[in-house]
Amino acid sequence: MDFSGSLRAVEAGATYVAGGVNSGYRTGVRPNPLVFTSASGCTLVDVDGNILTDYFLGMGPMLLGHSPKEVIDAAKAQLDVSLLVAGQTLAEYKAARLVTEMLPGAELVRFASSGSEAVQVAFRVARAATKRWKMIKFEGHYHGWFDNVYWSVAPDPTTAGDALSPIPVAGTQGQESGENLVVLPWNNIQVIEDQLKNGDIAGIIMEPIMFNSGGILPLPGYLEKVRELCTKYGTVLIFDEVITGFRVSAGGAQGVLGVTPDLTILGKALANGFAVAAIVGKKEFMNLVGEGKVMHGGTYNTQSVSMAATVATLEMIKSGKPHATIEVTGSALMKGLAAEFTSAGVMHEIVGYPSVFNVRFDLHAPTDYRSGIKANRERYGNFAFEMLKSGIRILPRGTWFLSSAHEAVDIDKTLSCVRDVLKAGI
Ligand SMILES: Cc1ncc(COP(=O)(O)O)c(C=O)c1O
Repeated sequence: MDFSGSLRAVEAGATYVAGGVNSGYRTGVRPNPLVFTSASGCTLVDVDGNILTDYFLGMGPMLLGHSPKEVIDAAKAQLDVSLLVAGQTLAEYKAARLVTEMLPGAELVRFASSGSEAVQVAFRVARAATKRWKMIKFEGHYHGWFDNVYWSVAPDPTTAGDALSPIPVAGTQGQESGENLVVLPWNNIQVIEDQLKNGDIAGIIMEPIMFNSGGILPLPGYLEKVRELCTKYGTVLIFDEVITGFRVSAGGAQGVLGVTPDLTILGKALANGFAVAAIVGKKEFMNLVGEGKVMHGGTYNTQSVSMAATVATLEMIKSGKPHATIEVTGSALMKGLAAEFTSAGVMHEIVGYPSVFNVRFDLHAPTDYRSGIKANRERYGNFAFEMLKSGIRILPRGTWFLSSAHEAVDIDKTLSCVRDVLKAGI
């Protein structure tokens, strides 16, 4: 496949758009950033006319695929009614009610427009509730790109200090100091207890399943113990379920793993491609926002079309049908991939759920960021690039997102490409 039309379009676009892309994560990809003309089902079409089976799914949101009729019909109908009213619509109450019915930790909801900003509200709430300032985050976990939390997302361990007490590493130039952030290795209870004992930690934020830096599950009992310690020391536990919420299950990762945080950050699959995120949680914390003690604003919060799409998306997810479909196709894909890698003699590990899983090469059972990056990421990146050239778009970092629009025929096509790519050698 030829991607040179995309390259030319990005280079021409760079006359007007800084770097030719509108997110730092869309640059530095092989062979070059792609420019798309349309998307439907689980398929993307680019300016070169390539038709790609898509496992990026917009970086996760498109759980129902690129063109779910119910969501698009709801959005289209709303376009004729209102766009932005600087007030409330009934749809936002319906959407919020659905969230509270589906997610164990959601007693009250506040909608936002991106996961990154919803994280900021959670930090404020944790600090206001505890009158403490420090927050704990974990090496390799991603919680958006804002100054106070964009630390140690993908640090070079050789310059990031001791494994048990990492030095926070800034993610970008121009970033303000992270003086109130404590960075710890994940899946280690002792380091958390040592910090909480000091009595100055307002909150702990984590991805309950680590999908941003290789798929790593919480060790048995880890989340339960963190929950227990947070309760004991009066620290607010925040699950960042921007990836896992409504995707791993209708009740998110917390629904599957059985541990309920104080606050949860939602985004992505919440609105199947519309710019909707949320902070949700227990009443005692969310009331700080409700009573105006903690400020949370946003011109575009609960924009009418987005809310219509959110209601339609959540109703679909709540019906159970999308996850039932993905359970079949995703499981077949996970099983099929394992079989192909095994028969090609590629040491591999597949971790996660049919709706989102991670594949790594040449490493078994890492438990945190530093052990996870020992996987053969270069080899996997080569594999992802060869797959792209065969018409299958997978993330070079190893994450696969499934949608209910992927059908058995798409899985078969994908596995046949995997076979060919492995035969040719990676
Ligand atoms: C776990 C997690 N938290 C937060 C974010 C930030 O969300 P957004 O890109 O909507 O700002 C992301 C984005 O990928 C994410 O994966």
